Amino acid sequence: MNTTDKILVIGATGNIGRHLVPLLDEAGVPVRALTRDPSRAGLPGGVEAVRGDLTDPESVEKALHGVSSVFLLWPSFSAAGAEPVVEAIARHARRVVYVSAFSVRDGVDAAQNGVWGQIEELVRRSGVEWTFLRAGGFATNTLNWAEQIRTRGVVRAPYAGAARSLIHEADIAAVAFRALTEDGHAGRSLVLTGPEIVTQADQVRIIGEVIGRPLRFDEQPREEAREEMIAAWGDPATVDGALDHWASIVAEPEPVTTTVEEVTGRPARTFRAWAHDHAADFR
Ligand SMILES: NC(=O)c1ccc[n+]([C@@H]2O[C@H](COP(=O)([O-])OP(=O)(O)OC[C@H]3O[C@@H](n4cnc5c(N)ncnc54)[C@H](OP(=O)(O)O)[C@@H]3O)[C@@H](O)[C@H]2O)c1
Repeated sequence: MNTTDKILVIGATGNIGRHLVPLLDEAGVPVRALTRDPSRAGLPGGVEAVRGDLTDPESVEKALHGVSSVFLLWPSFSAAGAEPVVEAIARHARRVVYVSAFSVRDGVDAAQNGVWGQIEELVRRSGVEWTFLRAGGFATNTLNWAEQIRTRGVVRAPYAGAARSLIHEADIAAVAFRALTEDGHAGRSLVLTGPEIVTQADQVRIIGEVIGRPLRFDEQPREEAREEMIAAWGDPATVDGALDHWASIVAEPEPVTTTVEEVTGRPARTFRAWAHDHAADFR
């Protein structure tokens, strides 16, 4: 594959895309960024931003002309509407790198693997060359605590002891960059995590140390958290899945992989490093 072929980045303005687009651009790889609103995208100069909406497959198809590889994420808890988008991608591109989740299990029915398993299945069936980035929880999820931290210095959340291997979004972008621009990653499901286990209570403590303010974790009963999460996420099954997962990892921490280092040659960033990068969000 010629690295000067054009790459379409879906989710270019998101947590991962904000790191991936500059990596590609600085390496001289032609990038086209898909966004619902190019005027507000704020992408590096020289990067081509095109209007497109995943709920409108024709708009995605237009963005695919002349593209050889696609960075794909599906920012919804439902796979409804994904099939025509994946088919359009496969008509134009040779390679797809898709942001999946490390909860996906091989050898079980796709429906048991949530939206991520269903999109993986669509991509596999489409015939395009694929790499799946099966990411664990993103450290950016803790930005949900930012307002509580800024205003009260307390995080009220369930499962203080949930032991997580949260990953820095820049590490997912670094792996995506390799998978998009190098050969040798096709047909691989890369399980990506941070380099260490940090409980939720320790995440709060570390954020406090980084911003120079002692913070407290206030354990929230599951039912209270469930109501708030359903109001925010909309999908009760996804909420129950997340709560069950956090309950289970109090006793048995999430896995830690070394895939980021194996693929990029650099160890995955720690949660403390992530907190430094986002200190302004919590101050
Ligand atoms: N958070 C986790 O712990 C976790 C774990 C595993 C996997 N994931 C997966 O990671 C993905 C999220 O990645 P992220 O954090 O980098 O993204 P993000 O920061 O949540 O941003 C969402 C991106 O999707 C784009 N987008 C949203 N709706 C769109 C639509 N209808 N059409 C076109 N683009 C649309 C947005 O672009 P515009 O607003 O510019 O249009 C934005 O760039 C999700 O698919 C999720 O399933 C997350």
